[in-house]
Amino acid sequence: MKQAIVIALGGSLLSNKTGAELTSWRLKIVELVISLNDEGKKVIIIIGGGELARKKIKDAIDLGLTDEHELDLIGIESTRINAMNFLKLFSNTNIKFNQEIPHSIENGVSFLMDLDLIVMGGTVPGQTTDTVAIKFGEEIGAERVIVATNVSHVFTDDPRKNPTAKKIKSMSLNELGILSGVGAPIKPGSSFAVDPIGVGVAMSANLPLVILNGDDVANLRKAINGETFEGTNVYGVN
Ligand code: UTP
Repeated sequence: MKQAIVIALGGSLLSNKTGAELTSWRLKIVELVISLNDEGKKVIIIIGGGELARKKIKDAIDLGLTDEHELDLIGIESTRINAMNFLKLFSNTNIKFNQEIPHSIENGVSFLMDLDLIVMGGTVPGQTTDTVAIKFGEEIGAERVIVATNVSHVFTDDPRKNPTAKKIKSMSLNELGILSGVGAPIKPGSSFAVDPIGVGVAMSANLPLVILNGDDVANLRKAINGETFEGTNVYGVN
């Protein structure tokens, strides 16, 4: 198979800008995918639920739903709606992309044989789309998985609570595992720099990660090309 680039695209990136800024970002993402395809690379984008998931989960909680499995299913539906909408950006291109949203990694991987771009959302409860991207990357033997989110780096502590928190430019998967609290349960709709469940999968698979701010598409391109980029490089064991 051609080289495949796996990107977890945080749902917040779809809703943290409006108007010309949003149009320009979308255009740059489309151009990036086209140029990667031109270089013979397939692209897998796993889209998060962002604002839509948070709203739908909150609405359900307000209506009295407490079952985390059910709330996760609502979150997953939201990611799939975002994925379907995101695919529309590619309608007027020559890119061969999926017409339906895969509901499992296996389903997504099977589409990859014939297509150049796969866009999908969540799969099973108890994780976030970061984990879907990491599992997809593991399944196809990707060199690394890029987690494009709304923060520029992994920090030494939560920068919203601790102003002395420092950016981490490079760290091992084990160090990321300790910092992100691998093994800790997550709450539906809550937000982390990287999903610890996904970090656990990456550690077991020795799959390197890149964490960066997905608003800066030029920087995302640098990371994909293996050039110096602004973000956190998470390396595996050689
Ligand atoms: P996201 O992947 O969007 O999580 O899934 P997030 O942490 O809110 O990330 P951003 O803000 O988009 O970057 C939204 C919710 O959907 C459920 C979880 O409840 C998650 O919090 N979900 C998603 C699953 O249960 N399984 C999945 O595979 C994906």
